[in-house]
Amino acid sequence: MSMFSRRSFLKATAVVGAYAGGMAIAGRFNHAEAAAEPLLLKSVKTEAKLTANAATKDIMTWTASGSDGGAQPPVLRLTKDKPFAAKLVNGLDEPTTIHWHGLRIENKMDGVPFVTQPYVYTNDSFDYRFTPPDAGTFWYHPHCNTLTQMGHGMTSVLVVEHPQDPAFDAEVVANLRDWRLGNDGQFIAPFKPRDAAKAGTYGTVRTANWQQEPQYDAPAGGIVRLRLAITDVTRIFSLKMEGASAKVIALDGNPVPERFSLDLLLVGPGQRVELAVRMPDEEGALATLQDIRGTAPKTILTLRATGSSRKRDIRDLGPLGANPEPNFDANSASPIPLVLSATAENVSANSICGSLGYSFWAINKVPWPGDTPDPTAPLAELKLGRSYLIRMENVTPHTHPIHLHGMSFRVVSSSTRKVLPLLSDTYLIQPDEKVELALVADNPGDWLLHCHIIEHQKTGMASYIRVT
Ligand code: C2O
Ligand code: CU
Repeated sequence: MSMFSRRSFLKATAVVGAYAGGMAIAGRFNHAEAAAEPLLLKSVKTEAKLTANAATKDIMTWTASGSDGGAQPPVLRLTKDKPFAAKLVNGLDEPTTIHWHGLRIENKMDGVPFVTQPYVYTNDSFDYRFTPPDAGTFWYHPHCNTLTQMGHGMTSVLVVEHPQDPAFDAEVVANLRDWRLGNDGQFIAPFKPRDAAKAGTYGTVRTANWQQEPQYDAPAGGIVRLRLAITDVTRIFSLKMEGASAKVIALDGNPVPERFSLDLLLVGPGQRVELAVRMPDEEGALATLQDIRGTAPKTILTLRATGSSRKRDIRDLGPLGANPEPNFDANSASPIPLVLSATAENVSANSICGSLGYSFWAINKVPWPGDTPDPTAPLAELKLGRSYLIRMENVTPHTHPIHLHGMSFRVVSSSTRKVLPLLSDTYLIQPDEKVELALVADNPGDWLLHCHIIEHQKTGMASYIRVT
């Protein structure tokens, strides 16, 4: 039996429970103590109750040693600078891998088939071992047949704790994603080609932690750390909080340079938001997180105030622990031009990790879906340790969350708006926007760069950079 015996599971849960004042928490166990002993993550097919209808079949998920066995994949809790190990055992009838989105780890642990590792066949396994250098909210997902595997459930949150973080009264972790289900609660076609050529194909059932509009209790007048991960394959959110004040304290795994009130924050697939929510003072009052993009506002989740008010003041909340950042040298930085466009060329050949059979998008005029045995040439070859200025331009009429593996960049400027100098791994670029991103090539290897609207990625909006 692994380290995740019943006892360590209970103990770890208690630690988190005490921290949260016994309030609802989506994270199931704390992996921080597990140093070298690998967590067993088995990819499996199962069913789950997602709607009022019959249980949804063909759910894809991971079960973890020591977790409670529900269909939802475990929320992993690691600690900054502490080693972590997980053994992926593939119980699916198709190949898979795990990519640790946003973690700046060794290239061979990055989980991209053909680029950083062989895909993992049915009944085979792969050992992932790394030490997270950054604290924050991250997530994990396969990088093979992703529209299906992620669409059917394989997306989950990974929290890296910072020992120097301030204390909160409660913590809630929420995995935000949709499902493409028909009226009978069963999966329907994962995409429509005409939508893949536009904003992407939306899900039909929205969930937070696999529930529709879940409610969590939190201490009245307390400050809740609300960690949100947008793990949907398509949906961009415009977040708003009703009934409580909320400050954005971290984005994409890094503390923000300056905290700001949550007011229509646009976030796309792959991105994470951490909020400090000041709960209302009256018992029973609700704080409602909404998505107001599109027509009618939609409730994502609610927090319900319990007990007598703790009367906390959000201004007293100390800074989050910092993450290390390499020194960017603006004087020596070489530019990397990067143009996102539409294309109709070169339908990619079918691949073991899935092809959608269409080509709609390109980066620097080259369409490539990623996860295929025929990588194109790298977008750019970078020298280890040197500084670069990515000049990214979106000449399409759609918004794209562009994600870089293995390294973080700093947002420098945008042609269309004032930007915060965020440290990030995903930039949500608007139509006709040009943006400058400062990057220090401090991690050797081939690193994917792609749109995280998975239909866009799989129909061409993917590439990679090489750091040697
Ligand atoms: Cu979430 Cu290629 O990544
Ligand atoms: Cu896109």
